[in-house]
Amino acid sequence: MRLSTLTLAALLAAGTASANPVTYADVVFNEDGGVEASLTGVAGNPEEGAKIFSTKSMGNCVACHEVSTLDAPFPGNVGPMLDGVADRWDATQLRGILVNAKMTYEGTVMPAYFKTDGFTRPGNAYTGKAPDGPLDPLLSAQQIEDVVAFLSTLKE
Ligand code: HEC
Repeated sequence: MRLSTLTLAALLAAGTASANPVTYADVVFNEDGGVEASLTGVAGNPEEGAKIFSTKSMGNCVACHEVSTLDAPFPGNVGPMLDGVADRWDATQLRGILVNAKMTYEGTVMPAYFKTDGFTRPGNAYTGKAPDGPLDPLLSAQQIEDVVAFLSTLKE
């Protein structure tokens, strides 16, 4: 009885954490462009991360990166091959690269997956209809955590 009450309390706590993920404005980068704190407080799911990585409508990371254990037919090679990437970077740095790769690599073509403000909106000059205010991030806070969990499995 006691155990199940505790389990329930833990589940409720986890539910609360995932209901209140941080927004881009709350993210704290370290001086190397890494982000130490989890965006949600809920551990990422590596299988879900692999799916996001290879699904076009989600992360679509395979457009630029290859991971040889994934069954993705025509991976791109704009970005580095990610086999063994967890030997090169820890979760803090991987999270930072996903949230906003420009904090790690100045001028990179890699999209900032969790950035929601500070974009230039050239369309506005022509139409006056570009939205101002924050946009939705390309990936949600929990999706970022899932992809970090997946990348962390890529050791050689
Ligand atoms: C438009 C191409 C593009 C897309 C899409 C892209 N990346 Fe990248 N990524 C790059 C490039 C280019 C670099 C190398 C950094 C640089 O010098 O610009 C990089 C670097 C990285 C690195 C560091 C690699 C290393 O070996 O040091 C990781 C990790 C990474 N990307 C993960 C991802 C993930 C995960 C996604 C999908 C959510 C993604 N990338 C989507 C282009 C891309």
